[in-house]
Amino acid sequence: MMKITLFALATLALVCAVPQDQPAAAGAAPVAIVKQDSEVNINGYNFDFETSDGTARQEQGEYKNDTDQQGLAVKGSYKYVAPDGQHISVTFVADKNGYQPTQHLFNEPAPGAAQP
Ligand SMILES: *[C@@H]1O[C@H](CO)[C@@H](O)[C@H](O)[C@H]1NC(C)=O
Repeated sequence: MMKITLFALATLALVCAVPQDQPAAAGAAPVAIVKQDSEVNINGYNFDFETSDGTARQEQGEYKNDTDQQGLAVKGSYKYVAPDGQHISVTFVADKNGYQPTQHLFNEPAPGAAQP
């Protein structure tokens, strides 16, 4: 009887020691989609979205079929906060000349800003 009781207690201790499913890291708020739009048609598309962690992206593509270009001509931009706290922002064109980032902004976080 004593052995059975000890076995039962040991088993209970093991079960209690198994980590339970944890929510996201303490203090880290879940990231929400705060804006999302898209439209696709025969001549092109556009979309944009924004999330609560400072990420955003928008893009427009136009199908071209003329003497200058046959294919998509795309314009867009995106931004996000890097793991080191820098705010990254890029504007680009992507067309017959390839992907061309036209503006980069890499801003250091403000002094004293909380690091992730
Ligand atoms: C592009 O334009 C050419 C010339 O008008 C036409 O022959 C061709 O079918 C067009 N291509 C598409 C995918 O619309």
